Amino acid sequence: MKEYKLEAVVHVYELAELSEEDKQLVEAAKQATKGSYAPYSKFLVGAAARLESGSIVLGANQENAAYPSGLCAERTALFAAGAQHPDQPVVALAIAARKGRSFLAKPISPCGACRQVISGVEERYGVPIRILLYGTEGVLVSEGIKPLLPLSFVDEDMR
Ligand code: THU
Repeated sequence: MKEYKLEAVVHVYELAELSEEDKQLVEAAKQATKGSYAPYSKFLVGAAARLESGSIVLGANQENAAYPSGLCAERTALFAAGAQHPDQPVVALAIAARKGRSFLAKPISPCGACRQVISGVEERYGVPIRILLYGTEGVLVSEGIKPLLPLSFVDEDMR
């Protein structure tokens, strides 16, 4: 029997400690919650993807009466970015969530399906995506999806 220890390193910053570029992306994710359609969960999530060109593409969760047909903010943003800017790598993704008008104190983490899609976008362009998870108490930053998705399934596994 062999044992592997999987180490995940992430950083938590105060908002003021972030670069102007990161602050701007977090602000865009907060703004993006305005596009949330969440009549069932009342949980408003926004995502902002920064492209290599510097452009920002927004996403927000979109719910449906048939619950599984809805989509998270992260995938809404990433799929929009891929569809509208297929030649542009995504270099960073910020996520913010609120209930009513109050943003959450602790950052939310992308669900498993969104992590898999983030991993796929990294693979597609060969570029790690800096992930910024906003909470009013601090911003969790992961350099790429790997710390959040160890032992991930990638296309190379099928070769
Ligand atoms: N949701 C997101 O958009 N992103 C996440 O990271 C977690 C969950 C959405 C899905 C659903 O519309 C609502 O939040 C409650 O799960």
